[in-house]
Amino acid sequence: MSVKFAVQPSVSLVDAEARAEILANPAFGRVFTDHMVCASWTAADGWHDARLTGYAPVSIDPASVVLHYGQTVFEGLKAYRQPGGGVSLFRPERNAARMAASCHRLALPEFPEDAFVEACELLVIQDQAWVPGGEGASLYLRPFVWATEVGLGVRPSESALFQLIASPSGNYFSGPLRPVSLWLSQEYVRAAPGGTGAAKCGGNYAASLVAQQEAIENGCDQVVFLDAVEHRWLEELGGMNIFLVLDDGTLVTPEVSGTILEGITRDSIITLARELGHAVEERKVDVDEWRKGAVDGHVVEAFACGTAAVITPIGALRWPGGEAVAGTGEPGTVTMKLREALMDVQYGRTPDTHGWMHKVV
Ligand code: PLP
Ligand code: COI
Repeated sequence: MSVKFAVQPSVSLVDAEARAEILANPAFGRVFTDHMVCASWTAADGWHDARLTGYAPVSIDPASVVLHYGQTVFEGLKAYRQPGGGVSLFRPERNAARMAASCHRLALPEFPEDAFVEACELLVIQDQAWVPGGEGASLYLRPFVWATEVGLGVRPSESALFQLIASPSGNYFSGPLRPVSLWLSQEYVRAAPGGTGAAKCGGNYAASLVAQQEAIENGCDQVVFLDAVEHRWLEELGGMNIFLVLDDGTLVTPEVSGTILEGITRDSIITLARELGHAVEERKVDVDEWRKGAVDGHVVEAFACGTAAVITPIGALRWPGGEAVAGTGEPGTVTMKLREALMDVQYGRTPDTHGWMHKVV
């Protein structure tokens, strides 16, 4: 059954001057556009009552399943201003598929993939004036599905809500691009085999926060997790995948094994890097390869990647009493070359040879 959206634009919009001020200096995820998209689901009626409306708070029963058992998933994708003024989404069908997979893992109803893309298009069309134009800026779209059933029984909710909101965004890390430092979590893991690591569900992020807090307490920007079984293999950051660059130009990144999120940026980088002549290895990556390699010159660069983070250079890797700095600790040349190659596609500065850009307006 296809999902049909009603379009009911808001009559009270942020005025153009206030919007221009926001767009001139967007932070990350602080301000939201004039509209949102919602669709309801019940076991009896399936997806229904899909609509674009003014952005507004939702009223929620204190006994809603989501508040107690965390049955919720989300996505993150961006709309980019193109030369000539149009707006395009980057690989939205991949986010649609991933959200369906996350819903499946969380026993939530899968939001149809074509409806996901249509919802993104509708919101971007309606709020196109909110897509910033500056270097590195974009409109970040946040689709999510959450369990609305009221009751405390631990079982899959029989009702759910899909929502899509949008936020003009700049760099995820404030200020100009700089290498971030990572804290190697000793005590905490993000995901275990058979768990929810490959799903983009709220609980994964909630579980990462105390480790992220520890990273900050230790003077680092982000936490990096090791595997739950041997505590030896690199996994990912709280909200980003990770790559190392070796001295022969090879890129290595943890393989997709069920415990990390299969990043769309990660996948795009693998393609672009191979086209630029780099070998790319998706395999288990021993943290000691990094620690030792930073000293003996085997590992020359490291970077994190994700929709929000784009490609962010990594400076130091730290653990209690130790530190490894690959290369000079400054943004590496391969890192910056890949960042530019990716952004050139996203901002339409280079031909889209992979069909990644989804033109909306
Ligand atoms: N890993 C985690 C845990 C994330 O939250 C994200 C961000 O979405 C990523 C990796 C990168 O995924 P993507 O490149 O699809 O944004
Ligand atoms: C994204 O990159 O879209 C994410 O969801 C990660 C989060 C750190 C904002």
